[in-house]
Amino acid sequence: MVRMQKPLVIANWKMQLAPQESEMLASAVVAEAVTVADAVEMVLCPSFTSLGVVSEVLMGTSVALGAQDVFPVSHGALTGMVGFDELRALHVSYILVGHSERRRVLGETDEEIAKKFHGAIAAGFIPVLCVGETVEEKAGGEREVVLTRQLGILADLSDDTKAAISIAYEPVWAIGTGLACSPEEAAEVHQWIRKTVVQYVSADRLCVLYGGSVDEKNAASFAGEDVIDGVLVGGASLRKEAFLAIAAAFAKVKKAVA
Ligand code: 13P
Repeated sequence: MVRMQKPLVIANWKMQLAPQESEMLASAVVAEAVTVADAVEMVLCPSFTSLGVVSEVLMGTSVALGAQDVFPVSHGALTGMVGFDELRALHVSYILVGHSERRRVLGETDEEIAKKFHGAIAAGFIPVLCVGETVEEKAGGEREVVLTRQLGILADLSDDTKAAISIAYEPVWAIGTGLACSPEEAAEVHQWIRKTVVQYVSADRLCVLYGGSVDEKNAASFAGEDVIDGVLVGGASLRKEAFLAIAAAFAKVKKAVA
């Protein structure tokens, strides 16, 4: 398989770190990221309050900055929200949209997620659309129905969209549980996602990531699956060694097919 893009290894720090902790972890990652930077695109997604300090640390380095969410307007009188202009000013490149924690805890709908996704593309960011089924939906054999609905927002992509798009398959039952999806099962779902979305976006602009209990022990087996273009990492990304080992696993395996 000829790989058009480097594998993506994204850290989602959620709301686990204060700004000082984020700054320290970002500095530690950057100091060692050079060893894998040629082969892997590394992205750090701190919380909004840490974006500023992490942005300064990442400036001029090979590690990119991501936001965990956005309110999909450029700016305005909206208390408590963060829009595209602020993210652009901090040199954010990636924006996570539709994370299952936001869908579940905040009741975020596909309609709202669509606005974030398309707004991000229009504003020049790379959206990372998170999709995935719950354990009940999986048990009920509804995985494809759920994913089809969540991926349906891609139908509004205009033909002339040249933007890169990432989709993170994050089964809800694998997030934060230590029970990662098996690489074989994840690869099957990734194959299905590619087949489903290729009607909306050309294959060379698409990156399909896996997320859910990825760590330094299982990363190589995910990297070994051709259709897994990278990972979105939560808990393990809070440990510098683990996150760098995950990136190194992708650098090593994917190099062979680059
Ligand atoms: P964990 O890696 O902690 O399971 O979290 C995954 C996730 O939600 C990344 O967005």
